[in-house]
Amino acid sequence: MSKPAFLVFRGCIIDTPSLGTLRVRSNGALGVDLSSGRIIGVADRESRETPATELVTRWIGQSVDGSAVQTTDLSDDQFLMPGLIDTHTHAPQFTYLGLGHDLPLMDWLEKYTFKHESQFQDTNLARSFYNSAIARVIRNGVTFAAYYGTIHLQSNVILADTIRNAGQRAFVGKVCMDAHSPSYYCETTLQSLEHTEEFVNAVLGHGRADDANVLVKPIITPRFVPTCSKQCLEGLGKLAQKYALPVQSHLCENPDEISFSMQCFPDRTSYSDIYRHAGLFGPRTIMAHCVHMTDNDIELVRQNGVGISHCPNSNFSLSSGIADVRRFIAEGIPVGLGTDVGGGYAPSILDAMRMAAAANRALIASRRDAGAPGGNDRPIDANELLFMATQGGAHVMGMGDQLGSMDTGKLFDALVVDLNVRNSPVPSSSNTLAVHEQLQTNLEQAWRLRAEQFVFLADDRNITRVYVAGKLIHSL
Ligand code: GUN
Ligand code: FE
Repeated sequence: MSKPAFLVFRGCIIDTPSLGTLRVRSNGALGVDLSSGRIIGVADRESRETPATELVTRWIGQSVDGSAVQTTDLSDDQFLMPGLIDTHTHAPQFTYLGLGHDLPLMDWLEKYTFKHESQFQDTNLARSFYNSAIARVIRNGVTFAAYYGTIHLQSNVILADTIRNAGQRAFVGKVCMDAHSPSYYCETTLQSLEHTEEFVNAVLGHGRADDANVLVKPIITPRFVPTCSKQCLEGLGKLAQKYALPVQSHLCENPDEISFSMQCFPDRTSYSDIYRHAGLFGPRTIMAHCVHMTDNDIELVRQNGVGISHCPNSNFSLSSGIADVRRFIAEGIPVGLGTDVGGGYAPSILDAMRMAAAANRALIASRRDAGAPGGNDRPIDANELLFMATQGGAHVMGMGDQLGSMDTGKLFDALVVDLNVRNSPVPSSSNTLAVHEQLQTNLEQAWRLRAEQFVFLADDRNITRVYVAGKLIHSL
């Protein structure tokens, strides 16, 4: 039998095309062209009786042979949704996952992070650890992630190769640190810049940074202001421009970090202004945390089109604080979710959605109790959380027009979710009276309730298939 050229899914399709909008197509159909990895058509209401070849013919405007189409009929407990996007994580920090959350940021970096990351000088260690870390991220339904590696050129290339071989979409950054770093984990400015450029060329190969079909791309990665000299930041700004690359770093995570950064750059008006002045602030920049932002920080982030990676698990676990996501959204700043492993202990965007909900409610309650503005804000709901985990994340990664929803023309990075798996943490419909009732009368409303339960209850057992650009990269 010849290899299929098209995929067709029939059943429930759920996505969030805009913030707060949950689109449920309970009797939907969706087609994928495997040569482009893109969605060729979506039907809102389609009879299960319509042959898949007829659907593909309708979508591409020419007839196709039955053997060219592989069809998946989703069960009554399954739905199709966009892949989850982790806008901020550290691949080497899986080596001490769940440890050291008793320290604040700067002490935690010193005591745990730098020591563990320095071991990645050993390429054999990198190869084996990165293999299992990436498999774990994929198992959690993350189709696209922005990874930090370490300072080591070779091990970073191994990380990028590992991700490419696993079929995940990713940005991978060689971490740069040439100042205020321990002697065993530090580079010269020249090394930092030269190795970054070598890494960029090694990962890009003959590919172009703006080609959406290239799965793994380099990202310029100054660790954060305290560990980077002015020359290093400015050199990285020039490299980002020369190769048209995205940029990632940490911003306003912790009060001690901020005051040290401002001491290092006394002429700048804010933490954000340090990055902006070095040419690192633009629409392809991802800034993680943003917990303690001044008005000037927010204004510069907004003006420059920077995206924010909200990392609530890490912000709780390292006692960093709570980022004001509602304010970012009100300012029109793109917001996605990040796990920030190992500042955060969970390599799961489902966890990030829940932690984002908890952070938002804690902020509202503390303001209410203090009689402060925002004490009556509407809590961020499940639909908004799902948006941040998918379409919002895609915006932050600079690919909002290519990814994040189930629309014709977009890349098919997607999950099949099954609520009827062994030991499912999401109850089957018969155990949830409200869902059970709606299933008899209003299928779309039943799926809305089930999507909410997915956000708050599901885990990797429910993610039974993971696709990137049409390719199945994980299945249970
Ligand atoms: N700031 C600088 N480096 C790091 C890191 O590895 N994790 C977190 N959470 N913050 C940082
Ligand atoms: Fe981080």
